[in-house]
Amino acid sequence: MDLKLNGKSAFISGSTQGIGFAIAQQLLKENVAVTINGRNKERVSKAKDTLKQQFPNSTISAITADFTNKEEVERLLGELTDIDILINNVGIFEVKDFQDITDKDWYDYFEINVMSSVRLSRQLLPQMLNKKWGRIIFISSESGVNIPENMIHYGMTKAAMMAIGNGLSKLTKGDQVKKLWGIKIRHKFLIA
Ligand SMILES: NC(=O)c1ccc[n+]([C@@H]2O[C@H](COP(=O)([O-])OP(=O)(O)OC[C@H]3O[C@@H](n4cnc5c(N)ncnc54)[C@H](OP(=O)(O)O)[C@@H]3O)[C@@H](O)[C@H]2O)c1
Repeated sequence: MDLKLNGKSAFISGSTQGIGFAIAQQLLKENVAVTINGRNKERVSKAKDTLKQQFPNSTISAITADFTNKEEVERLLGELTDIDILINNVGIFEVKDFQDITDKDWYDYFEINVMSSVRLSRQLLPQMLNKKWGRIIFISSESGVNIPENMIHYGMTKAAMMAIGNGLSKLTKGDQVKKLWGIKIRHKFLIA
């Protein structure tokens, strides 16, 4: 498939495994220079090595940074220059009864799942506007529309991501920068 992304650069939050890693592979197939991310240095390094083996002629970078760590997030934002495509993918989830979800859980979920995308978008959107080209993709979930009764904290963050993507898209109406929100259902994306 040619998505006409040849020569572009992408950052994917939370991409040492799972959906983020699969997105990295797909973008590399499209000749996009990819930067992956995770919170654990060894896992980040291992994922980067695997991608290098699979795509030996591609440009692959990695930044270790934990989205719960303020200093690491600031360093990450400083290192991100010239990114055309931002994939706000990082997300944590677990099944938990409403009565057992602590204040700390609520704040941790908001920090990782929502504020990571706010901070990354705020950092990279001006560069995209200057270049008159960019993409910001929010990996949300069906759980943000139909909130699971045993993951209300998770559903709240996925609904928030859709709200942010929706609002941002209005900021660039008529521009060539498109902000999209994605609902992922069974490892497929619905982009609206
Ligand atoms: N899986 C599903 O069925 C499903 C369904 C709907 C939507 N989604 C959404 O899709 C996205 C990806 O899900 P997934 O299942 O692929 O996730 P996953 O397999 O659990 O992978 C999570 C990734 O995020 C990284 N990560 C976790 N916490 C982090 C933190 N604090 N700072 C930096 N990186 C962190 C992990 O890196 P390390 O552990 O290596 O540090 C890992 O690379 C999420 O937003 C999720 O809500 C998933």
